[in-house]
Amino acid sequence: MSKIKNIVVLTGAGISAESGIRTFRDTGGLWEDHSIDEVATPEGYAANPELVLSFYNARRAQLSTVEPNPAHEALARLEQRLLEKGGLLTIVTQNVDDLHERGGAKNIIHMHGELLSQWCRACDTKFKSAEAFTLESHCPKCDAKGKVRPDIVWFGEMPYFMDTIEAHILNCDLFVSIGTSGAVYPAAGYVQMARGLNKQTLEINLDPSEGSYFFHETRLGKAGELVPVWVDEILNA
Ligand code: OAD
Repeated sequence: MSKIKNIVVLTGAGISAESGIRTFRDTGGLWEDHSIDEVATPEGYAANPELVLSFYNARRAQLSTVEPNPAHEALARLEQRLLEKGGLLTIVTQNVDDLHERGGAKNIIHMHGELLSQWCRACDTKFKSAEAFTLESHCPKCDAKGKVRPDIVWFGEMPYFMDTIEAHILNCDLFVSIGTSGAVYPAAGYVQMARGLNKQTLEINLDPSEGSYFFHETRLGKAGELVPVWVDEILNA
């Protein structure tokens, strides 16, 4: 085991691409077919809640048709081995899917929310559900009708757990970014934070991200191929 014991991995849509979940900004990505303003902002939800609910219902329904890929599984293996050695892997994900969990990882921070979490705006309760929600749906806690929205952080809203994420970066030995374009802040700025704290940094992505030049090292290729190789390197060092 190398001296690297405490690792923060930031993941984005690219890590789930080989599982069959579309990314956002690549050719064929979700934002080609859908307007961010319409489906990923509070204003879009206020203007047309049916459209927004059906967009996230479709994405939630897809979860049962996809499986974690070798990148998710390799990170779970790394988490387990680091724990055994007194280290820590923290996965900070921008993804709203559940593939890290199903790949076996446990220490996961969903900074942009989760498709399987719902938020009742009437009683301000969050609850897990894999069901589809419409304006006819009732909150299982307070029974209000049509008030349940996806527990997804939209543009213009504050990402979750920011203090916790920054504390993990402060305490890590290595910051790794996997499968994200680096187009959306604050996640895109974490590499600069890590560099400012003199942490080692590594990017694994299909194409150079927008902040590629901030990383000490960039490895270009598919996460499903490169992440298991990198994990073996760390565990064998
Ligand atoms: P993007 O779609 O912006 O970027 C996906 C990145 O993954 C690109 O840089 C691709 O090159 C890379 N990629 C694609 N396939 C890959 C593969 N097999 N292996 C490795 N890399 C691959 O997705 P995110 O960066 O996750 O937010 O987007 C960030 C946020 O923007 C999302 O969380 C979402 C979106 O709007 C909200 O909805 C709030």
